[in-house]
Parts: sequence; C-alpha cells; structure tokens
Amino acid sequence: MRIRPIQPTDHQALVALWRRTPGIRLREEDELEPFCAYLQRNPQLSLLLEDDAGRVAGSLLVGHDGRRGYLQHLVVDSPHRGQGWARALLQEALRRLASLGIRKSHVFVLEDAPEALAFWQMQRGWSERDDIRVYSTTGA
Ligand SMILES: CC(C)(COP(=O)(O)OP(=O)(O)OC[C@H]1O[C@@H](n2cnc3c(N)ncnc32)[C@H](O)[C@@H]1OP(=O)(O)O)[C@@H](O)C(=O)NCCC(=O)NCCS
Repeated sequence: MRIRPIQPTDHQALVALWRRTPGIRLREEDELEPFCAYLQRNPQLSLLLEDDAGRVAGSLLVGHDGRRGYLQHLVVDSPHRGQGWARALLQEALRRLASLGIRKSHVFVLEDAPEALAFWQMQRGWSERDDIRVYSTTGA
C-alpha cells in the first residue's frame, strides 16, 4: 500500500470508490471538470491510497483557502479498514498543509456516518465543536 497525490486520471476510480461507500455523498463538485479544477487549485494536497496492484483503496480530498484547511471524502475501502490507513492519510495531509503554513483545519462529518464519527472522535488533537453552527448556501 502507498499514499500518493491524486491525479485527474484517478477520477473514474475515485467516483466508483465514493459510490460504494456509505457516509459519502456525491455532489456536482465531484464531476470531472470541477474535480480537476479543485486539484489544480490545491496542487499535490489531495491524497490517494493505492494497493500493491495499483487499485484505489482510499482517498482524502484536501484544500485550503489560505487560512484554514478543509478535508473531504476521507475513505478507506472496507477490506483495508482498521489498519491505520485513514490516520496515515490524515497525517500526510496535515503535514502537507503545515508546509504551506496552514495550521488549522476543519472537517464536516455527516450525522449518518457512524464509522466516520467514531474515527474522528478518536483522533488525538481533534475536538468536536459545540460552539459553531454551520450555515450553507448554493448562491445568491
Ligand atoms: C472512517 C474511515 C475512513 C476510517 O478508516 P480506517 O482506515 O479504518 O481508520 P484507521 O484504521 O486509521 O483508524 C484510526 C483509529 O480510529 C478509530 N476508528 C476507526 N474506525 C473506527 C470505527 N468504525 N469504530 C471505532 N473506532 C474507529 C480507531 O480508534 C482507530 O485506532 P486503532 O487502530 O488504535 O483502533 C473508514 O471507516 C471509512 O472509509 N468509512 C466510510 C466513509 C466515511 O464515512 N468517511 C468519512 C467522511 S468525513
């Protein structure tokens, strides 16, 4: 297994991984064009976990706005769970963000993603916020 940056050519395999993973909601931004634009805007940050045969086994989308880091689509495919790969993806992402001067990051976790909630609950250095409510919009 190895961790490497995501390339535009990984799109199809990643969408297949995200589709078969409960807890991940696919959005318009996951289509090829916005996916490639995201990678271009955040070069070398998003990470892919690859098995020895070169198959996609996990992912973590990583971006920042110059101030805070944002993590999305953290997935380890079911046969590879419980071996520390999500933690390894996370550590590598934070290392890359820190090298750009980004020292604080956020992740938004769906209430109906129990494995993700269990994972984030256990991560040293991460705390659940109870002082913030998230408001979202799709435009004016
Ligand atoms: C959440 C997910 C990425 C964790 O992947 P993973 O590779 O199994 O996680 P790790 O092995 O790195 O786990 C690290 C620690 O988190 C905790 N943890 C992870 N999954 C857990 C679970 N299902 N229940 C309880 N604790 C869990 C453990 O404490 C583990 O430490 P340990 O190895 O000492 O037991 C994986 O379950 C997954 O892909 N889930 C579906 C997708 C999803 O909901 N993604 C979240 C989007 S925010």
